[in-house]
Amino acid sequence: MADVLKTVFLTPSEISGRVFEMAGEISRDYTGREILVIGVLKGAFVFMADLIRALSVPCRTDFIRAASYGAGAESSGKIVITKDVELPVEGQDVLIVEDIVDSGLTLRHIMDTLKSRNPRSIKVCAFLDKRKRRKISFEADYVGFSMDDGFIVGYGLDFNEQYRFLPAVYVLDPAPAREKEENG
Ligand code: IMP
Ligand code: MG
Repeated sequence: MADVLKTVFLTPSEISGRVFEMAGEISRDYTGREILVIGVLKGAFVFMADLIRALSVPCRTDFIRAASYGAGAESSGKIVITKDVELPVEGQDVLIVEDIVDSGLTLRHIMDTLKSRNPRSIKVCAFLDKRKRRKISFEADYVGFSMDDGFIVGYGLDFNEQYRFLPAVYVLDPAPAREKEENG
């Protein structure tokens, strides 16, 4: 496993430091309110678990899942909700929590879907942002870290469902990873 994980991009202590900062900012912005935190499965579950436990405002939690159909790792543009939120969204202060914004297509679709249910407010909190890779314009309201390019894993983020459990974030070397997959 270690041979495909090129470099550590974020250490566990860098991650927790930034998550606490973000939770502080969010708590200040939502003072006196209760947030409906909606995590985007699966990637956001680790980040969301840390984030909500660092908030000083109450929240309720739910999850949503979207799939994008198309070739390989690239979003095709056709996004489908495969697991919907179960709690009512109308009148709520919704905070969508996502692992990473890449093309922006997934969050745009989720945002539009939830907006149509008349929340009181809706914002997006992303652990990572690959700003230069947008196919549409999309800005998250809270961003943990920004990066240019490269594929990363760990802290909930996967490559073919692997590496989500890692407590640090690594840059993946895609060539050996693919070779490993093929060779079993
Ligand atoms: P978007 O619709 O292109 O913004 O897709 C974002 C989704 O692609 C994220 O929720 C991730 O699941 C996945 N993704 C994008 N970049 C990475 C990465 O570097 N590592 C792991 N997953 C990624
Ligand atoms: Mg994801």
